[in-house]
Amino acid sequence: MTEAPDSPVWFITGCSTGLGRALAEHVLARGHRLVATARRPDALADLAAAHPAQCRVRALDVADAAQVAATVSAAAAAFGRLDFVVNNAGYGLIGALEECDEAQIARNFEVNLFGALRVIRAALPLLRAQRRGHFVTISAAAVIANYAGFSIYGASKWALEGASEALAAEVRPLGLKVTIVQPGPFRTDFIARSLERASGHLADYDATSGKFRSYLETMTGRQPGDPLRAAAAIFTAVTAANPPFRLVLGKYAHDKARRKLPAAARELDATGELGLATDFPTGP
Ligand SMILES: NC(=O)c1ccc[n+]([C@@H]2O[C@H](COP(=O)([O-])OP(=O)(O)OC[C@H]3O[C@@H](n4cnc5c(N)ncnc54)[C@H](OP(=O)(O)O)[C@@H]3O)[C@@H](O)[C@H]2O)c1
Repeated sequence: MTEAPDSPVWFITGCSTGLGRALAEHVLARGHRLVATARRPDALADLAAAHPAQCRVRALDVADAAQVAATVSAAAAAFGRLDFVVNNAGYGLIGALEECDEAQIARNFEVNLFGALRVIRAALPLLRAQRRGHFVTISAAAVIANYAGFSIYGASKWALEGASEALAAEVRPLGLKVTIVQPGPFRTDFIARSLERASGHLADYDATSGKFRSYLETMTGRQPGDPLRAAAAIFTAVTAANPPFRLVLGKYAHDKARRKLPAAARELDATGELGLATDFPTGP
């Protein structure tokens, strides 16, 4: 498909493989324009070669603040505007909280949380000036309910969702939108090469986080989620007239979300009397 000169412009982080790559290919196939970014931009050379008018490629490590500022600014200049800013870059850290070291914890937050916030903050002046634009954040099903072994990875995504909820309220009056995507297990490089192991090992956690880690390892290459279908669903959702604030991807994550809703209501019912009694008494 050939792009229209005024077709929407996307900016996506972490396009080398997986969900980012699939989304990059999908938006180009749908005739939209794209500034595709990756730590190793040579991984995207084929995209630029196949879509020379539609696609620009830029190097971006979201942990590098100066590079984020320069790359978002270059991306804005590439086509004169940005319509969809997708924070997809991220990686997992597997291990019990006590097994992860400080440097691993800081690095995971640096990429998954601070990297994404950095991209959003760098793009905000342009999107506010346009009074148009949409932030798309790739979160995780770990936010629906977290697992033993994902304390840090889950926390980075929970924090990102917390910031995104506030952001949505802040920018809605300015004409900007926010969508959070919660994928379940998708068949990407996530478990194979984007899942860092905790530096420590304590046998006391073998039955909890260790079990989850072994389970994840058995899932490599067998995850039920198809990245191409995920890309199509994200595209459909965020280009809709009324885009959703949250998009849960895959049956696994859907089932998890369905289980969580009544469980949260039951917990509120069980503790309601205790919690409600903590307000100052009102009335006479
Ligand atoms: N697949 C799943 O089951 C699943 C489930 C829930 C959430 N997610 C989320 O989906 C997103 C994409 O992951 P994926 O499943 O597509 O895995 P993937 O194929 O391993 O892709 C991860 C991408 O993130 C990039 N990345 C990592 N650190 C980066 C950094 N500092 N700066 C820029 N890019 C960086 C990687 O780049 P390099 O090639 O340079 O390493 C790669 O392009 C992640 O945020 C992940 O947390 C995935």
